[in-house]
Amino acid sequence: MSSPSLLATTRSYLTLSRTRTRTRTRTGLATGALLCPAQTCSPNPSSTPLPALGHRALAASAPGRAPNSGSGSGSGSGIMPPRKQRKTSRSSRPTAGDVDGDPSPDSGTSTSGTSAASASARSAAHLAAYPAENTHRLLEPGPVLLISTRSAQGVPNLMTCGFHMPLQHSGPPLVALVLGQWDHSYAALAETGECVLAVPGVDLAQQVVDVGNCSGEDVDKWARFAFTPLPAEAVQAPLVGEALACVECRVRDRRNVSRYGMWVLEPVRAWVNGAREETRSFHHRGDGRFVVDGEELDLRERMTKWKYLQD
Ligand SMILES: Cc1cc2nc3c(=O)[nH]c(=O)nc-3n(C[C@H](O)[C@H](O)[C@H](O)COP(=O)(O)O)c2cc1C
Repeated sequence: MSSPSLLATTRSYLTLSRTRTRTRTRTGLATGALLCPAQTCSPNPSSTPLPALGHRALAASAPGRAPNSGSGSGSGSGIMPPRKQRKTSRSSRPTAGDVDGDPSPDSGTSTSGTSAASASARSAAHLAAYPAENTHRLLEPGPVLLISTRSAQGVPNLMTCGFHMPLQHSGPPLVALVLGQWDHSYAALAETGECVLAVPGVDLAQQVVDVGNCSGEDVDKWARFAFTPLPAEAVQAPLVGEALACVECRVRDRRNVSRYGMWVLEPVRAWVNGAREETRSFHHRGDGRFVVDGEELDLRERMTKWKYLQD
């Protein structure tokens, strides 16, 4: 295979890949190039009513706590280590407003509305306070992933991951992954600089959650949860045979690992399994509840400025 492959985001990856022409097959996995040069904008198509889509009950997940009430977790990373292992003291964390010199949101120089009139306007618009620390639940990241690694000693492992995001489409394509040092997988990623991001279907949701509740330090999760390791092409970590898609990645930037547990990865190969009947992935709401891929809303015609992102 001569050219690396990538789909721009893992979510669009799955959607787009269903119609992509296969360029190569390998044990049910196919890979294809995504990125295209920019094109000129076209006029905005006429407005059409949106199909009715189900709305999630955000209010039901909003505890009646004030926004901006910090959790004081003491974690130096954006994700929470298991409670017994939280080591970093609060004083070692960046304090509000000191990250890269940004002004504190509470410094009094902002335009935030703290008056009774502001509160009244929000109330009239049915805006209820929501804990800012639970922002991740509102943003709902891409699909839950299995991260496959192989240690420098050759031992393969799997972990579950919900915190990840695409960073850039090309030049090179990059994705970010938040993986804490309490994870056994952390050492393998640090040692080898390689991993595979595997996108499981919702039919595997229970096993995937179970994978995230035990450590490769104690158990062979491939065997326990009956996942099939397959040889990758560019990295030593195995592909996950049961996944909807697998993306082979190399670590490209570690500068935010110590501060946020954030690894910047370059996808170097991608594979999609066209033989799977269940093609829906699932997304973590951040509290043990998950959203399953549902109805697709095709607004490609309206994406006039971003046509080049489409096949
Ligand atoms: C739904 C779910 C999402 C998770 N997301 C993350 C994550 O984004 N980053 C992380 O470091 N751990 C995450 N975890 C926790 C790890 O999967 C867990 O610590 C696992 O035991 C690590 O395995 P390991 O020690 O074999 O590496 C998640 C767990 C679950 C169940």
